[in-house]
Amino acid sequence: MIPVNKPEITKVDAQKVYRAVKEGWVSSSGPQVKVFENKIKKFIGKKYSSAVANGTAALEIAIKTLNLKKNDEVIIPNFTIISNALAVIKQNAKPILIDCDLQTWNMKIDLMENAINKNTKAIIATHIYGYPIEIDKIKKICKKKKIILIEDAAEMFGHKYKNKYCGYYGDISVFSFYANKHITTGEGGMILTNDKAINDKVNDLRNLCFGKINRFNHDDIGWNYRFTNLQAALGLSQLKRINNIIKKKKKIGKLYYKLLSKNKTITIQKPKLNNLENIYWVVGIIIKKKINIDILRKKLFKFGIETRSFFWPMNKQKIFKKLKIKFKGSFPNSNYISKYGFYLPSGIGTTSKDISFVCKKINQVTKNL
Ligand SMILES: Cc1ncc(COP(=O)(O)O)c(C=O)c1O
Repeated sequence: MIPVNKPEITKVDAQKVYRAVKEGWVSSSGPQVKVFENKIKKFIGKKYSSAVANGTAALEIAIKTLNLKKNDEVIIPNFTIISNALAVIKQNAKPILIDCDLQTWNMKIDLMENAINKNTKAIIATHIYGYPIEIDKIKKICKKKKIILIEDAAEMFGHKYKNKYCGYYGDISVFSFYANKHITTGEGGMILTNDKAINDKVNDLRNLCFGKINRFNHDDIGWNYRFTNLQAALGLSQLKRINNIIKKKKKIGKLYYKLLSKNKTITIQKPKLNNLENIYWVVGIIIKKKINIDILRKKLFKFGIETRSFFWPMNKQKIFKKLKIKFKGSFPNSNYISKYGFYLPSGIGTTSKDISFVCKKINQVTKNL
C-alpha cells in the first residue's frame, strides 16, 4: 500500500529520542523543550514561542487569550480543518465563514473584508494545502480595523510567503507537528507571538493555570496541553533537515504536476501561481464532474494507492447542524472542491517511484471512466 502520508524518521531521529528516554527526561520538564521553542522562534522570526500538545490545542489557547464575549465574531475559512471553528465555538464566540478561492483553495480575501463589522474581534487566516494565503494583505486590513490576526500555518512549516516564513505574519501564529507535517514530533504544536502579555497567558493556559502563590489554587480554566521532552528531541533532530525537507516537498509536487497536468479529466494545482509558490503539503486533485470520484478512488485503492478526501466544509458539518449553529452566506466554491477533490500520497517519505506508479494508474483509470 502506498499511504497518503509516510513520515521520514531517520536513525538519528530515533537515537535522539532514545537518548532522551535514557536520560529520564520524558515529560514536559525536560531541557530540550525550551531549546526547541527557542530554535523555532528564531527560525520564524518571532519573540516568543510555546510548545503545546498539538495544533488544535494551539488554536484553542490562541483564541482563549483574546477574552472573547458572547457576540464577538471571529472570521475563519469555510474550507479548513474543524479545529479553526472549534477554537471559536468553545469560547462561546461566533465563527463567521468565508468561501474559498477556486484556484488557491484559500479563504477569499475580498469576501473576508466584506464580512468585517463592529463585532469582528479576530481573523484566523489559514494556509490551506499548498499555496500560502496572501497574509500580508490580511495583516494590513487587520491593522487598519484593529482586529487580531491569528495565522494558522499548521501545514506550512518552513515554507515562505514573499521573503518571510509562514507563521511570521500573525499577531499569534500556530503550527502543528503531527506526523503528516513538514517536521513532526508525533503529535505537537507551537504558538508564536511578539506580545509578552499574550505569551504569558499562553504559558499559563497550556499548564492548567497553576496559581502564582499557592500552586494548587488555580487562576483560570486552563488545559494540560504540555509538550514533552521526547517530542522536543524528535523535533530538534527533524528541524536540522528542514531545508532538505522543503526541497523534497517541492520535488514531490512538481513530479505529480508533470505527470498529471495533461490529464483533462482532473485539475492539479501548478507549482507557481503569480507570486505564490506551492509547497504541496498535500497534493490534491479535483475531478471534472463527469467522472465518478468514488469509483476512481476505489479503483486506486485496489491498486494499493491510498487517497484521502478533502476537508468537509464547516457549513456542512453535521455537528454544527445538530447544535443549531447557523452560518450566513453561500459557499459554492468550498462545496464544489470538497465534493470533487481528494488528495494523493504526498508525505515526505513518498518516493518518485511511488509517484510515477500513482500517476500511471490515475491516467489509466480516468481514461476508461
Ligand atoms: C490548517 C490546520 N490547522 C490546524 C490543524 C490541527 O493540528 P493537529 O492535528 O496537530 O491538532 C491542522 C491539522 O492538520 C491543519 O491542517
